[in-house]
Amino acid sequence: MKIALIGFGTVGQGFVEVLALKQQFLQNKYDLNLNLVSIADIKYGSILDPAGIVPVKVLNHFRKHGNLFDFPTQIRPEDSFRAIKQSGADIIIEATPTNLKTAQPAIDHIRLAFELGKNVVTCNKGPVALFYPELKALAQKKQLAFKFESTVMSGSPIINTALYSLKGCEFKKIRGIMNGTTNFILTQMEAGQHYAEVLTEAQRLGYAETDPSGDVDGWDTLAKVVILANVVFGGQIKMADVKRKGITGLSLEDIQNGLKKGFRWKLIGEISLTENGLSAKVEPQMVPLDHPLAMVMGTSNAISFTTDLLGEVTITGAGAGRKETAFGVLNDIINIAQSKA
Ligand code: HSE
Repeated sequence: MKIALIGFGTVGQGFVEVLALKQQFLQNKYDLNLNLVSIADIKYGSILDPAGIVPVKVLNHFRKHGNLFDFPTQIRPEDSFRAIKQSGADIIIEATPTNLKTAQPAIDHIRLAFELGKNVVTCNKGPVALFYPELKALAQKKQLAFKFESTVMSGSPIINTALYSLKGCEFKKIRGIMNGTTNFILTQMEAGQHYAEVLTEAQRLGYAETDPSGDVDGWDTLAKVVILANVVFGGQIKMADVKRKGITGLSLEDIQNGLKKGFRWKLIGEISLTENGLSAKVEPQMVPLDHPLAMVMGTSNAISFTTDLLGEVTITGAGAGRKETAFGVLNDIINIAQSKA
């Protein structure tokens, strides 16, 4: 399987690190040869080698030079679109920064990949939140895979659980803590730390979005709510249909007062199937301390599926992080490779 990576930011770099770690293991365990042929990044430069790029070599070079401009390579594509065209890749990984207004440039990368008959894996919420019905139809028409496990709760298995493991269930509600940065901030505020200093720490650790207002104002959770509504419930919900309130209005005092009354403030994303169709919202809620969602701390997230046959199924796990998101991308690639074998 030849892979081209578009976007060499936190997740892109994390993916190459995970590949360096797992390449041999995947070869031994699944007889799977994942060959990274291209990396394209608007800031750090683009490289393409049909014989394969050695992950450790590119990581070492990047650590030393901070870019890929002088990395020895066969071809130096002029931009990401040319990298996709020239790559000869079977799978394109779209890992550019999320844009929840236009989904650019990711949406154009994905459209081009499908046009050229390439499978797509993305951790980018923009194209899935804004264009899922179109992208699903394009992939189906060309019998290509379109996978995006990492868009919700990083590599924790949410999309795959809903689409594969709960296939025979009907969903009534999906509710959960879907943003690692804000859950980390709320956890640290409970320990008395101020909002701004925790946000800086979340950015340093690579949890926060490129523009962190995406996290604290609830946009990131909102995008995940839209993804779940459209992918799991088969809805046609748009970002503007979802009521949204972030955590910036919560003070240290609110958090302490909540605890005294037996509640913990959490930023909750919720989709319910009502008599009038799907209803979706994002808002801070006071969750009773003995409820499973109240026990999810730090960057961990949790999502509960309320189903007809299984009752409530809750997945708790990593909500954000470089390696955790990269793992979800790798897992999608393994699933594609095995289904095409
Ligand atoms: N900024 C996001 C979060 C990354 O903090 O959850 C994962 O989507």
